[in-house]
Amino acid sequence: MRKLIIDCDPGIDDALAILLALASRTDVDLLGVTCVRGNVALDKTHANARRILAAAGRLDIPVLRGLAGPILSPARAEAKAHGTDGLGGLDLPEPELPVPEMTAADFIRQQAALYPGEVMLCPIGPMSNVAVALLSDPLLAGRLHSIVFMGGAAFCPGNMNEHAEFNFLGDPHAAQVVLQSGARLVMFGLDVTLQAKIEPEHLDRLRRNGNRCSVLAADLLQVYAARDLHLHDPCALAWALDPSLFHGIQARVHVITDSGATFGQSVATPDPAGNCLVITGVDQERLFDLLIGRLA
Ligand code: BDR
Ligand code: CA
Repeated sequence: MRKLIIDCDPGIDDALAILLALASRTDVDLLGVTCVRGNVALDKTHANARRILAAAGRLDIPVLRGLAGPILSPARAEAKAHGTDGLGGLDLPEPELPVPEMTAADFIRQQAALYPGEVMLCPIGPMSNVAVALLSDPLLAGRLHSIVFMGGAAFCPGNMNEHAEFNFLGDPHAAQVVLQSGARLVMFGLDVTLQAKIEPEHLDRLRRNGNRCSVLAADLLQVYAARDLHLHDPCALAWALDPSLFHGIQARVHVITDSGATFGQSVATPDPAGNCLVITGVDQERLFDLLIGRLA
């Protein structure tokens, strides 16, 4: 069974990714959830991860606090698609459990050392925590099974401006550290996630599932789909469950970190010896079947 750490900024599609992992206990062992500033401030992303785990009855999974901003560049404005609280204003209580003192980066390093070659790290927000973990431990890249991330736009325009995607623009230097780390990398950028389009029938099917997590997912998606119709982050999680849903090409990818109009842009060149498998396509129907089926 694949050991997994989700590094995230919930965020509605992040919450869906967490729910998908929790609903897939026979395939993935979710070791922990690490949080970063991204869609909303760190206090909120951390609270939201705990709110989602509490709603799913999985308070046994540790939720670690990470960086409250990017590693080098100034913090950018919060995202709009997730509402001011980051979870669409849904009434989900935050659990009163004590917060672990270990940082997100330390947790990532600790788990990779504990399970060498086994941990898939899945960053689905700005990659600040992952960069700090990699920079502070030269052995980490080789100890991870892989880093499967949502971020960037390899062969298509961005969603923040014509060049940059939200997670890469949120911390371009961190993305560059990850891309140069030597870890086995799989990139889920807008090239593929814009194909994961949420349709009204998906919400109906989730509601028909009837259980608590499916109805929660439908409520979350309903708020979210009014502003962003694409299920970005769960794509990266689905890779751990069924890679046959996707196809892609090996490429050399880097991020532009010089200030200017292209700041945060990912630049990709197809190359069989490149640093990254860039996912470019998904079977949208089977992806939603997987999500809705697992949540059932
Ligand atoms: C990414 O931006 C965030 O708003 C989403 O959670 C996703 O990680 C898509 O560009
Ligand atoms: Ca996210």
